[in-house]
Amino acid sequence: MSLIRNILKKILPSAVKQALVDLLSLMKSPLYHWRDGRRYAKYSGMIHHENDQVKLIARITMTYHGIEKGLTMPEMRPGFGMEAMNTLITLCDEYLRREYDATHCQFLHAVGVVEEYRKVHEEKGFTIAQPLLNKIVELTGKVRDVQRAEQIESGAAEYFKETSTPFDNFSGSRHSIRNFSDAEVEVESIKKAISLARNAPSSCNRQSPRAYIIQDKELIGKVLSLQNGNRGFGHLANKLVVVTAEQGVYNSIKERHSAWIDGGMFAMNLLYALHFHRIGACTLNCYFSPSAEDRVRALCGIPRSEVLVVIIALGAVPEKFRIPLSKRLSVDEIMRIR
Ligand SMILES: Cc1cc2nc3c(=O)[nH]c(=O)nc-3n(C[C@H](O)[C@H](O)[C@H](O)COP(=O)(O)O)c2cc1C
Repeated sequence: MSLIRNILKKILPSAVKQALVDLLSLMKSPLYHWRDGRRYAKYSGMIHHENDQVKLIARITMTYHGIEKGLTMPEMRPGFGMEAMNTLITLCDEYLRREYDATHCQFLHAVGVVEEYRKVHEEKGFTIAQPLLNKIVELTGKVRDVQRAEQIESGAAEYFKETSTPFDNFSGSRHSIRNFSDAEVEVESIKKAISLARNAPSSCNRQSPRAYIIQDKELIGKVLSLQNGNRGFGHLANKLVVVTAEQGVYNSIKERHSAWIDGGMFAMNLLYALHFHRIGACTLNCYFSPSAEDRVRALCGIPRSEVLVVIIALGAVPEKFRIPLSKRLSVDEIMRIR
């Protein structure tokens, strides 16, 4: 086989050799994508919903996070999220029924959020419908030492007080902000943050990430109307930064995820850079259907060669606001030593 390859290498003109290599890459591409797709279908919760502890915890986390967000909205609507609360309690009951680890920090936090929902409504004098209240009392009664998941109260001065302190303090002080004041964030300040974000590493220094600043209010509204995670606060965003990554800089099929990796690393650096420049920010997903993605591309003038990574909603931070706790997994839960 290698003899034939060597002979072919010697006798074929280089253009034909390149055409053969390209053809081979084209043939390999569906195989790589098939493997990706098959693994995702098999192990994600797309088809096999909550059939193991990892997926159930993830669903519980997603659901409690929606309630945490609701509790910290600029204008919290008493009685919000009844359906989500019912779902969360059902998921937590299922978790207990399957006898998974009842000391898991995300499970305990979920129960803490359920309790916080009850307390906040009680303090506001809002009567929660009796069937839901019964379920809350029943669930919290089953779990020992429920810690109420009180959301963080902050203000502009407090929120930015660690921006020039050592990295551990700085990093711990950044949070997603879903409440913005009317004050204008200058494009120049965002440009400074984008400049700082360029310090992010990238594969072979090819620097695929691109950042589109959206400042036109009508355009912001149109883009956000296509995005599914900004209800209750998106209308307050002063500007958006759409982070994309140019696929033209990559070559091999093995690099097919690189645009999202380099783009994601850039996006994280941009979040820190915005925090450093005292700009409040919230990452928004780009989980668009093909038609919605086409609309976003057309609205923002994003070429097809770039992939959409995330949208960052940003604005000046108000005098008083609340931040979801967004409880993290413990280091022992994520670290493996081999
Ligand atoms: C890829 C990605 C997509 C996200 N999408 C949304 C979104 O659509 N809406 C939202 O309110 N928050 C969104 N977030 C923010 C997360 O909820 C937030 O980062 C997480 O809860 C941790 O909180 P923290 O940023 O305050 O540390 C997103 C974050 C990431 C990384």
